[in-house]
Amino acid sequence: MSDILQLIKNRRSVRKFTDSPVSDEAVDKILEAALWAPSASNRQNWKFVAVKNSAVIKAMADSVRAAVEELKAMIEDGDEDKLALLTNYGGYFSFFESAPLVIAVFFNPRPNFVNAMTGKNIRPEDNLEQTTAIGAAIQNLLLAAHEAGYGACWMSGPLVAENKIAEILKQKGMRLAALVPVGVPLETPAPPKRKDPRTLIEKID
Ligand SMILES: Cc1cc2nc3c(=O)[nH]c(=O)nc-3n(C[C@H](O)[C@H](O)[C@H](O)COP(=O)(O)O)c2cc1C
Repeated sequence: MSDILQLIKNRRSVRKFTDSPVSDEAVDKILEAALWAPSASNRQNWKFVAVKNSAVIKAMADSVRAAVEELKAMIEDGDEDKLALLTNYGGYFSFFESAPLVIAVFFNPRPNFVNAMTGKNIRPEDNLEQTTAIGAAIQNLLLAAHEAGYGACWMSGPLVAENKIAEILKQKGMRLAALVPVGVPLETPAPPKRKDPRTLIEKID
């Protein structure tokens, strides 16, 4: 297996971390990898906030827990399925609190604009170029963390508290794409199964 494929396949979502810090050198490398992701028209419309301060990380986790409780309170009586879903999944939203480093990935939402080539009006929520570019940057972060010997996890669950987290990190007006906790893994997760490639890949020779 080529080195890059090995790196890609051996990366796992890590959700438990030791107390050991992430070295400053590794933080810089991980962030540099994110900055070298491709982006449409090379806009690089992103911002990465690397948080090591445990009080700030706790404040973010508290805001996520509060948002989950708010959502639970809004569920109408009797909707046990929705409640169970939030109760089960809610736990997966705040475990970033146990990581020594949390990278918050933001992007600057491009307002409505008319695509010069197609004449189509593009709303920020339909701006696929923007969201896919952010995904490339997040994958770079994950791979660079893995390569440096750390574990990490791409987390969209914390977006339930998107505005509050942006406020805590003083990034008001920016959209939060993900939180990525990074640290020395305290677990070695088994690789979750991938679907049969034959159902996902077609080749036209
Ligand atoms: C957009 C996105 C959002 C995710 N959000 C969460 C999350 O909030 N919490 C979590 O525990 N894992 C989250 N994950 C991790 C996935 O569960 C994980 O990638 C998937 O189960 C495959 O496992 P692997 O990354 O180890 O290959 C997210 C992954 C992606 C791509």
